[in-house]
Amino acid sequence: MDRIRIVGGNPLNGTIPISGAKNAALPLMIAGLLTDEKLVLENVPRLADVSQLQRILGNHGIDITVNGKRRGDDAYAGQTLEIDARVIVDTTAPYELVSKMRASFWVIAPLLARMGEAKVSLPGGCAIGTRPVDFHLDALRALGAEIEIDAGYVLARAPKGLKGARIVFPKVSVGATHTALMAASLADGETIIENAAREPEIVDVADCINAMGGRVEGQGTSTIRVVGVPRLKGARHSVLPDRIETGTYAMAVAMTGGDVLLSGARADLLESALDTLREAGAEITVSNEGLRVKRNGAGISPVTVTTEPFPGFPTDLQAQLMALTTRARGTSRITETIFENRFMHVQELARLGARIHLDGETATIEGVERLKGAPVMATDLRASVSLVIGALAAEGESMIHRVYHLDRGFERLEEKLSACGAEIERLAG
Ligand code: UD1
Repeated sequence: MDRIRIVGGNPLNGTIPISGAKNAALPLMIAGLLTDEKLVLENVPRLADVSQLQRILGNHGIDITVNGKRRGDDAYAGQTLEIDARVIVDTTAPYELVSKMRASFWVIAPLLARMGEAKVSLPGGCAIGTRPVDFHLDALRALGAEIEIDAGYVLARAPKGLKGARIVFPKVSVGATHTALMAASLADGETIIENAAREPEIVDVADCINAMGGRVEGQGTSTIRVVGVPRLKGARHSVLPDRIETGTYAMAVAMTGGDVLLSGARADLLESALDTLREAGAEITVSNEGLRVKRNGAGISPVTVTTEPFPGFPTDLQAQLMALTTRARGTSRITETIFENRFMHVQELARLGARIHLDGETATIEGVERLKGAPVMATDLRASVSLVIGALAAEGESMIHRVYHLDRGFERLEEKLSACGAEIERLAG
């Protein structure tokens, strides 16, 4: 298994190109199942999760072509995927595949909407809490599907098609909003989704469905209105930039000091995180090219933050912010309200010398003057990158084990950071 070796202490200076958003690319690929024509997705990040979903969709008989780079494309240009779901040969998503990536459960919506049936494995356990799928199933039931759970599988049927309905989510869920949106886009009549997730990735998927001839309104607000159409057609859509990758590198610069342009980043996708970073002492400026993050001289100030659904502070940046606050001049408090158990990074950050006290869903971080390099273990995607941020500022060498978690969500992380002066390398095996 690969490891990443980091020798901390260098400030970051230069440019980091921001890739397309993983959390938009995955549901967009799944939305390709909604049509028998070709969906072309541009700016798709090169990530293990994307390749994994390619395999999963292949299992349903979907052809996916990856277009090679064109002359003049820079090394970081995203890939273009052509998704051709003309023929769906299998409406079953087996355990072996779904258990590897939770988001693949979302195929249930387009399979059901287009084929009238789907058999999809329950995703199973996950390192960050129980993460059930009850909201997804309730939404599909509201649209008229018959749902049965049998031997770890969800069997969903709608032999006469889905019918528009009012869906009210008890709690904001990104995945369940994707499910409701995709299923409603091919249902008969109007669907109103209330307490919908407002995340930018939902907007991206809704915009893509509209480009495919769908009728979705209100995306980006808590109430989404979908008027179902009998069929959707092919389209071309470019994936929006990754706000979590953007926030992660912004925190890395705030941690190490320096001056970095995050090219292609969009400030409007992460205002809340940028406000927190400013409070912590980073200087952030927005330009046509992206976001510039600087911290020169001044130390890191402590912050108090609670994770919330968009537009609040994202749970997917919680671990990274915690890494940053380990070196603040004072005590920070971070409360996690989205996922229980999303504090696996605490123990590992402690190995670098961080002082963190956990009490239920709140972590109290007492800033220390210096961190010291150590061997640490990546546990999940966001936790692992928080260790990278910690190690970049720690004295001496850190070795991060189990980095396959990083490859799921961060494209060429070590290249992007070493181009800005970090001492970071991947060691194979
Ligand atoms: C998505 C993101 C993930 C992010 C999360 C929250 C993708 C691929 N993943 O995950 O990176 O951390 O949003 O922003 O986009 N819940 C239920 N029942 C359900 C569904 C969810 O109780 O049926 C709960 C979850 O346990 C959690 C909360 O709702 O406590 C939010 O989860 P949700 O927004 O659904 O997360 P995902 O869509 O899985």
